[in-house]
Amino acid sequence: MTESAAANSSPRLPPAYRLVARDSVGSTNDEARQLAEAGAEDGTLVWAREQLKGRGRRGRDWQSPRGNLYLSLILRPECSAEQAAQLGFVAALGMGDAIGTVAPPMIEVRYKWPNDVLINDRKAAGILLESMSTPDGDLDWLVLGIGVNITTFPEDTAFPATSLRFEGCPPALDDVTLLEAFARHFLSWVNRWLEDGFAPVRKTWRSHAFGLGDAIEVKLAEETLTGIFDDLDEDGGLLLKLADGGTRRISAGDVYRAS
Ligand code: BTN
Repeated sequence: MTESAAANSSPRLPPAYRLVARDSVGSTNDEARQLAEAGAEDGTLVWAREQLKGRGRRGRDWQSPRGNLYLSLILRPECSAEQAAQLGFVAALGMGDAIGTVAPPMIEVRYKWPNDVLINDRKAAGILLESMSTPDGDLDWLVLGIGVNITTFPEDTAFPATSLRFEGCPPALDDVTLLEAFARHFLSWVNRWLEDGFAPVRKTWRSHAFGLGDAIEVKLAEETLTGIFDDLDEDGGLLLKLADGGTRRISAGDVYRAS
């Protein structure tokens, strides 16, 4: 299908976005990165019905059949590359709120560090941040890639996955509806972040955090740590209280319940 054919069921987004609708792509993040490199403006949003080479965090694949949501949003906030990482939490809240508007009332949305969205403690959405900085450390562009399992989910993941359909969302719920809801809720959260900083984002994220105060395992590139998830720090790092009484700040890793 061509770009214009995909646009037949074109989502209606607030004017802050520029929609680039595709039918099938390798990865919306790759498309968005190319557009960002070519100067695409803040708010450019690449959306596809399927991905043939969807990518997850830490080099993993992201299964991307038709029926689920795949989007990558280009952002150019005036901030450091470090601060821009907070946008992963902003996006998780935007998607969590969007899911809340389409899901049945009894489902529980929680956030798993750093940027996963869980429904009933199983992963429904993942977020992949990719960015480019200027030589003086400022952010040039950030691509926020988000995948949501609406109709299908993988069975073989290290952390259990789910889909919105499996958790009781109506069969009529589709990627267009969820994209429109996300676009509204993300805009509201990103404006809050721009005006008030990370504090309100952190407060809401913490109040729905998976494993906060519990024993968790954090898989890093070279080691696995066990400890108590003590807090999310003021920059988005995970503070892990270790058995020896020390606290370790973690900036990248995968969280699991301690076995
Ligand atoms: C994760 O590992 O949890 C992050 C998954 C991110 C998947 C999304 S789908 C849209 C965008 N394009 C990609 O190739 N990846 C992200």
